Amino acid sequence: MQTDSSFTFVLFGGTGDLSMRKILPALFEAHRAGGMLADSGKIVAVARHVADRAAYLDWVNEHVKPHVSKNGVDETAWASFLDRIEFVKIDLGNPEDFTLLRDALSGRPGIRVFYLATGPSLFVPICRALASVGLNENSRIVLEKPLGYDLKSSNAINDAVGEIFAEEQIYRIDHYLGKEPVQNLLALRFGNVLFEPLWRREWVESIQITIAEELGVEARGDFYDNTGALRDMVQNHLLQLLSIVAMEPPHSMDSDSVRDEKLRVLRALKPIDPRDIGKVAVRGQYHAGVIRGNAVPAYATEPGVKPDSTTETFVALKVEIENWRWAGVPFFLRTGKRLADRVAEIVVNFRAVPHSALGASALRGGANRLVIRLQPNETIRLYCLAKQPGEGMNLASVHLDLAFDRFFREGQMEAYQRLLLDVINGRLALFVRRDEQEAAWRWVEPILNEWAASNKPPKPYAAGTWGPAAASAMLAQHDTCWLEEEN
Ligand code: BG6
Repeated sequence: MQTDSSFTFVLFGGTGDLSMRKILPALFEAHRAGGMLADSGKIVAVARHVADRAAYLDWVNEHVKPHVSKNGVDETAWASFLDRIEFVKIDLGNPEDFTLLRDALSGRPGIRVFYLATGPSLFVPICRALASVGLNENSRIVLEKPLGYDLKSSNAINDAVGEIFAEEQIYRIDHYLGKEPVQNLLALRFGNVLFEPLWRREWVESIQITIAEELGVEARGDFYDNTGALRDMVQNHLLQLLSIVAMEPPHSMDSDSVRDEKLRVLRALKPIDPRDIGKVAVRGQYHAGVIRGNAVPAYATEPGVKPDSTTETFVALKVEIENWRWAGVPFFLRTGKRLADRVAEIVVNFRAVPHSALGASALRGGANRLVIRLQPNETIRLYCLAKQPGEGMNLASVHLDLAFDRFFREGQMEAYQRLLLDVINGRLALFVRRDEQEAAWRWVEPILNEWAASNKPPKPYAAGTWGPAAASAMLAQHDTCWLEEEN
């Protein structure tokens, strides 16, 4: 993991929420671990409302420190981390200020990384201003989601950024791809001989991918109300997970081999016919309810949200992949805010045995199932049937658990830490290529358009539940149910 060359990590939006909660804590963890960041590597924070470096370090001490190392901060490491941080005061609305940045970066060794932890409306102006002072050479640029609002606006950003940076310099981040269990899914599928022969329509009945959150929209009501769950979670995280689950074995793990295979899946998604939308897509919005004993308000009364909002906070979809491996296998995707639990998991339901000498209980579907839990408690669980002890041949469900924290006590890495190290080291495999992003937008757009044109509001669900009943009814049509509905 050791970086062999120096770097300068320039953080735009240096006092933003993302810098505070994710980016600076991830850089600190990489620094603290030792050997991951070149000693000469520097972080240059850019912000407008901070006077100078001393004031910025005060801000970092006050706001970032509480988000690092749950088990207490190593003060020596923290002090040496602060030594890495420099500061440049720039008003992003004023392109002339970028000469200050150019001067601050001049003569530094190694690669420059520009991380745009800002709103997407600033992506293009920042890139143009960087180019105007010659900073687009020998550099990489990291773009946070959301990258656009639809295919057109995403293309507009990609076109403009693409005039300044080559595709190999552009790192479009989707933090779900940096999660350890997602990496493990690749290891499981392509490092073992056991699963791949079964990973296809002949043996798989259906697949579920759920990202459920207990949180609501927090302080982001305004942003979220103009975005909704389909753009916020499905177009990116869920479709990326789907493409990793369904892709063909890549030739190697180099970035384009992996991304080519994911792209093939995204291009093979069966287009949704607007006339079928009621059968294959459910959208919901939470009403007031109770989560873990606490009353929580309705979405429409959250700060920043329009009282008559029809923005969806829940989506469930039935997706099909039109290729030889997956034809006819339904993939059920689901995400929502203010649901009953915080859980992200992939459930592969295998078919029942074709004939059972062991009685009817062996014929039931769901006897063999692989559950890949991304969070919390990263585990992979394989369900099988076994004989119950005692007289007769009665079968019961048992499972094998791979609990990674028990096998590997050290070295766990947060998604952002892994991804930031990948940017610094020039590894693109876990970043979204432009054509993948376009394919994903192309697939979700008919749903967005149909919902926008429809005068039906999202279906209500009480906060603290698993979303509208229609999401369960959709699965019932396929003789299946969501994992938590199994008895
Ligand atoms: C972000 C979304 O991309 O992912 C948020 O914008 C969401 O709305 C978050 O809460 C979920 O990420 P995680 O890693 O907490 O599951």
